[in-house]
Amino acid sequence: MQLQGALRGPSDYSQEPARHPSLRINAKEPFNAEATRRDLAASYITPVDFFLKRNHGPIPIVDNINSYYVTISGMIDRPRKLSLDDIKKLPKYNVTATLQCAGNRRTEMSKTRKVRGVGWDVCALGNATWGGAKLSDVLHLIGLPYHTEISPSGGKHVEFTSVDQCPEEKGGPYKASIPLGHATNPAADVLVAYEMNGEVLKRDHGYPLRVVVPGVIGARSVKWLDRIDIIEEECQGFFMQKDYKMFPPSVDWDNIEWSTRKPQMDYPVQSAICSLEDTNAIVPGEVNVTGYALSGGGRGIERVELSTNGGKSWFGAIRYQKEGVPYIAGDITSDKWAWVLFKAVVDVKGDTEIVVKAVDSSANVQPESVESIWNLRGILNTCWHRVRLSTIHNLRSFL
Ligand code: MTE
Repeated sequence: MQLQGALRGPSDYSQEPARHPSLRINAKEPFNAEATRRDLAASYITPVDFFLKRNHGPIPIVDNINSYYVTISGMIDRPRKLSLDDIKKLPKYNVTATLQCAGNRRTEMSKTRKVRGVGWDVCALGNATWGGAKLSDVLHLIGLPYHTEISPSGGKHVEFTSVDQCPEEKGGPYKASIPLGHATNPAADVLVAYEMNGEVLKRDHGYPLRVVVPGVIGARSVKWLDRIDIIEEECQGFFMQKDYKMFPPSVDWDNIEWSTRKPQMDYPVQSAICSLEDTNAIVPGEVNVTGYALSGGGRGIERVELSTNGGKSWFGAIRYQKEGVPYIAGDITSDKWAWVLFKAVVDVKGDTEIVVKAVDSSANVQPESVESIWNLRGILNTCWHRVRLSTIHNLRSFL
């Protein structure tokens, strides 16, 4: 039996972990922070310190790891409680995957027309190597075969429940679900993770166990895992039914009908420039432009293109993941769930706007304008990313 308090969600913020001082804090309580652009794009694997921290309540605490269990229950014959050791006895996989919050680039969307939610610049994501057991193996262990879409008792979804106290859930825990067919597909690489970048998961990122659903918005990768339930309909929690759904620009708070849309899963193709801020004053000359591009559902990045004339013409940037290994979308040498970094040199002669857009391996392209994808919660802002450079011809007079 799970002992009371093995993993618990505190009701206040008095026991939060220490965080890196350079993080850009978007909300203090709950703690929501992103790295600076330069810190984020400096490495393919994001150091844990600079990884997006996205929370809806105080960070849970483990009092005694030896009495921690994950309860697996719902529409199955024999409910089980699995300890951390039980999970670690299953084959271990290391999956490099980017977690992107659906609210990435929300601040920019809000400038067009105000949206509700924590503001984020372009760094509400991170790319880590997650170590853990495959969820498909965990479910296999409790008697659900691989590639099961409906369990014998009619279960069609897998719900993950945490212990954090979230105001949106009226003090209840964060929860989310994914379809059973996704969860039992070994190739989907959904993990019950206990490591991040080769180290034990940090409290901020879900210690002792979290789910990682590659290629899907970060909201489904539930941290501080307490329960896994096989359920008939998708999870009815706030973050599945009243949040993280994509609405058209015509829907506002006075005419929204949440039940008309499905919870968002895969994220669309995205890219952003990280070596420059949105507005910069620079001396004319060669400017290094670097940043990231990624797409959901395991789709690779086919092209990253830059323009200095508002999109009339484009030139390709170099894409890479690991230094010295050419990136080929869909190739076995590439990490299919991970972002791609890009670099290019632009010769800037006068005031210029640099624009980036990416194309994924299904030929999906980022939309040009934010207006066409504006939505009241400010999710999935994937419009072309623009930075404006104004040139200073006499640096001394500028200083
Ligand atoms: N899991 C729990 N239990 N509580 C949360 O607030 N936030 C979700 C997801 N899992 C959340 C959660 C959201 S919206 C995102 S984007 C990711 O966790 C962020 O994970 P990270 O903080 O490790 O980057």
